[in-house]
Amino acid sequence: MGFQTIELQTEGGIATIILNRPKALNALNLAMVAELEQAVHTVRDDPSVRVVVITGAGDKAFAAGADITEFKTMSPVDAWMFTQRVQRVYLEIERLPKPVIAAVNGFALGGGCELMMTCDIVYASDRAKIGQPEINLGMIPGAGGTQRLSRLIGKQRAKELVLTGEMVGAQEAWNLGLLNKVFPPDQLMPEVKKLAEKLAAKGAVALKAAKEAVEEGYDIELGSAIANEGKLFGLCFGTEDKVEGVNAFLEKRPPQFKGK
Ligand code: CAA
Repeated sequence: MGFQTIELQTEGGIATIILNRPKALNALNLAMVAELEQAVHTVRDDPSVRVVVITGAGDKAFAAGADITEFKTMSPVDAWMFTQRVQRVYLEIERLPKPVIAAVNGFALGGGCELMMTCDIVYASDRAKIGQPEINLGMIPGAGGTQRLSRLIGKQRAKELVLTGEMVGAQEAWNLGLLNKVFPPDQLMPEVKKLAEKLAAKGAVALKAAKEAVEEGYDIELGSAIANEGKLFGLCFGTEDKVEGVNAFLEKRPPQFKGK
């Protein structure tokens, strides 16, 4: 596919979306958001894709946020439309029926941090720097930052990051609960690959159900959330993968899931 601002590579059931404007630290301009949306639809609709990885080109940035040069002439309505579009794409990523891994290879700021937070598992380089610096531009996060951050790390700590606009290093971001694991830069992609391969070997229906149970249940009352979990649990019992998983356990062999 002829993308200009991103790359989409697929191999062995793993699709890797690379934000590819390294000279601008992979800042998300309008073109990149549109291409990201297209790539998300492609990986969502391609049954051969079992796991998605999102990372940034170069060794400096995952994404340094929205492209600030485009903000100079944006009207309030343009800005509203822009955030609505980014929010829609980010929600789609969060709700993809397959696992999404963020490989945070450097700065993840503003819209980059917000993108990172939509991913299911976040691995980062120990050089990563994370933050919501919008306050320094006289604005606030507009792609879910005020909401996902407070849900992930708590209101108090989220407000500290959003109000000061200060970045935190990888270790502090891990302490806050924003990152799953931190690696030296040269080990990041090999570790992400290992994780992606591990996930790709699981049953696709169970992965989708597990993700849906967590995502759908997160913001609702516990009784309804676990009732939903129970239905998704039941649904897994209609799959060939459940038969295979249980048989493999009882026969003391590794399962061979087919995604059915
Ligand atoms: N938009 C556009 N260009 C950007 C950019 C951005 N968000 N971030 C970096 N760049 C560009 C720089 O302008 C520079 O371009 P030139 O070489 O043409 O001058 C190039 O990328 C390299 O950046 P620096 O020279 O600044 O690199 P540095 O190592 O000195 O600093 C940095 C790195 C601390 C990340 C700094 O670039 C920075 O503060 N960037 C802006 C981060 C930011 O404020 N992000 C939030 C954007 S708003 C947003 O995201 C809203 C939302 O929620 C949707």
